[in-house]
Amino acid sequence: MSARHARVRAAAALRGTVQVPGDKSISHRALILASQARGSTLISGLSRGGDVKNTARALRRLGVAISPWGSAPLTVRGAGLGGWREPEGVLDFGNSGTGIRLMAGLLAAHPFFSVLSGDRYLRRRPMRRIAEPLRLMGARIAGRSGGTLAPLAIEGTRLSGIEYRSPVASAQVKSSLLLAGLLATGETATAEPELSRDHTERMLRFLGVDVRVDGTTVRLGGVREWDARDLSVPGDPSAAAFLVAAALLSPDAEVTVRNVCVNPTRTGFFEVLRAMGGKVRLLKRREVCGEPIADITASSSRLRGIDVPAELVPQTIDEFPILAATALFARGTTRITGAAELRVKESDRIRTMAHELAKLGGRLRELPDGLEIEGGHPLRGAACASHGDHRVAMSLAIAGGVIPGETRIADTACVDTSFPEFWELMRGLGAKVALS
Ligand code: S3P
Repeated sequence: MSARHARVRAAAALRGTVQVPGDKSISHRALILASQARGSTLISGLSRGGDVKNTARALRRLGVAISPWGSAPLTVRGAGLGGWREPEGVLDFGNSGTGIRLMAGLLAAHPFFSVLSGDRYLRRRPMRRIAEPLRLMGARIAGRSGGTLAPLAIEGTRLSGIEYRSPVASAQVKSSLLLAGLLATGETATAEPELSRDHTERMLRFLGVDVRVDGTTVRLGGVREWDARDLSVPGDPSAAAFLVAAALLSPDAEVTVRNVCVNPTRTGFFEVLRAMGGKVRLLKRREVCGEPIADITASSSRLRGIDVPAELVPQTIDEFPILAATALFARGTTRITGAAELRVKESDRIRTMAHELAKLGGRLRELPDGLEIEGGHPLRGAACASHGDHRVAMSLAIAGGVIPGETRIADTACVDTSFPEFWELMRGLGAKVALS
């Protein structure tokens, strides 16, 4: 249910077995790659969040036939490689950096004009990181603020492959270039400082596209059209993270989340929790459509603060808001560094988390590239706000669910961008949540 405000109170023990929505990153890629295949793809387990819905809507505007939103499985009738048609209107990606950045790569190589935009948060996020390398491939991309902010206007043209070394570890940058590379002449190679999530590479390989990986360098070239293959999207570890944290923090709790993607580029949070003394187990490991999955069981734990190892930062990147909230309950100090990317997410997550958790009584220090969180101080429910950031809203809800008093969170509609089922799931586990 979509709610503008949420009120949360401490609950009795959280217990149960749940399933989280399909992984958001994989859902975007499933839709986009299915739209470029030859033939129809059935996609099961797709995320129903607003971000993925916007990608589906953009694809429809590009002439791709997709069954009604919410049908399960969803059917995508592929337009073939390079088969999109010029859209009549603006493509609106809402809040989604993944949607706009990945689609920009392919649009740059389709011979027509398109305009890509999004909500006021997305229009503030950096687009230079994709526009610049795409221009090196020959792309014609204009945009606000010297071509660095959305709306972006793209005049599609023939692209040539390049070798690109990205200054940031970003799956969106890497994927944007690889998707452009599908239609470019010659070979496209991207490298990054550390390995970011590799769902694009895995899905392309599953579909039979020759993708070569060497460390953090990924190459493809001379790609020929592929036949559609049905796709199954595993549960989102970034959604499971909230339920796992809730289980660790509440007394006498045990929660199992089934069918979660445990791709090693996504499981940093669970590793960090274990290093903090958290009882988190990954069971029944298996593989679906080239992605490792498992059931995750978490139970009440006594946590201690740690320095988050730098090499775990890319694998934990979307979980820092919930990690910051979790660290309030650990003994000692937790230090997150090397995570300056947090400043250009759906909100400046370093600032918003420091600011909002302080309202609950948390002691946090903002660092240029991270946060220092002193755990173990008394906390109490208070009025706080999401800053339009879904992961901030849910992190505050988890913290509010294990402290005395009532936590009121303003502006919670954003939760629907990734996890519309969040509030119901929390209630099902025994959480006390009121929405208005
Ligand atoms: C994503 C990549 C990451 C992540 C985002 C989803 C993706 O962003 O934070 O939520 O699906 O490729 P960056 O590429 O900006 O690191």
